[in-house]
Amino acid sequence: MRKPVIAGNWKMYKLLGEAVDTALALKPLVANANHCEIVIAPVFTALKTVADRLEGSNIKVAAQNCSTEVSFGAHTGEISAEMLKDSGCSQVIIGHSERRQFYRETHGSVNRKTKAALAAGLTAIVCVGEMLAEREAGSAENVVKGQLVSGLDGLTVADMESIIIAYEPVWAIGTGKTATPEQAQEMHGHIRRTLAETHGKEVADNTRILYGGSVKPDNIAVLMSQEDVDGALVGGASLEAESFARIVNYK
Ligand code: 13P
Repeated sequence: MRKPVIAGNWKMYKLLGEAVDTALALKPLVANANHCEIVIAPVFTALKTVADRLEGSNIKVAAQNCSTEVSFGAHTGEISAEMLKDSGCSQVIIGHSERRQFYRETHGSVNRKTKAALAAGLTAIVCVGEMLAEREAGSAENVVKGQLVSGLDGLTVADMESIIIAYEPVWAIGTGKTATPEQAQEMHGHIRRTLAETHGKEVADNTRILYGGSVKPDNIAVLMSQEDVDGALVGGASLEAESFARIVNYK
């Protein structure tokens, strides 16, 4: 049984006070949601405070990125996975399309960051997804397969227990243009078949695959009704406690 995951990626929004207010407003609204894991990903500077304020609740805290480096060292501006764990995170988003597109994240860095996250005892939410031009050229499945194969390279079957995949078609992020439930299912099925090739059927059956891209309270239920959709990675609609709670409580 794959327990669904509903995760909110707050991207570069909210100063500390607002992050805490939103987290505290969310807490009672999702207190009875046992059907899924609930995750929020505030900015680095809010992680520790938000995690402290959510201690004992059913909401987990994720970071949005981590360093490829695992040891202390002269890496100005970097934050290691161990530091995230130390700040109260249990998860980290790796390889989000905005990082691949605008911050030159590569297949190689995604792989190193994923390994760094696992070494620190974090769950890695590894993001994949094609650009519009790639979909239009008919290469979406190949692109996503390449991202998976390289991103998860060298990971053992045991490592895969701490991996969540997020499929986020770039053309659906922040555009209000959601993939149809059929498009999501088609790609999620492809991702699961790829995982079966790389890590075996059991891993493929057990790995949660989230959909992301303009997920809203009014489209979550139909997305979740798809066989291979195991949750959502939500951007804009996760910024307000009420709308994110409606997505969490989709059942
Ligand atoms: P939106 O939900 O705003 O489209 O963002 C999706 C996303 O990028 C989540 O990581």
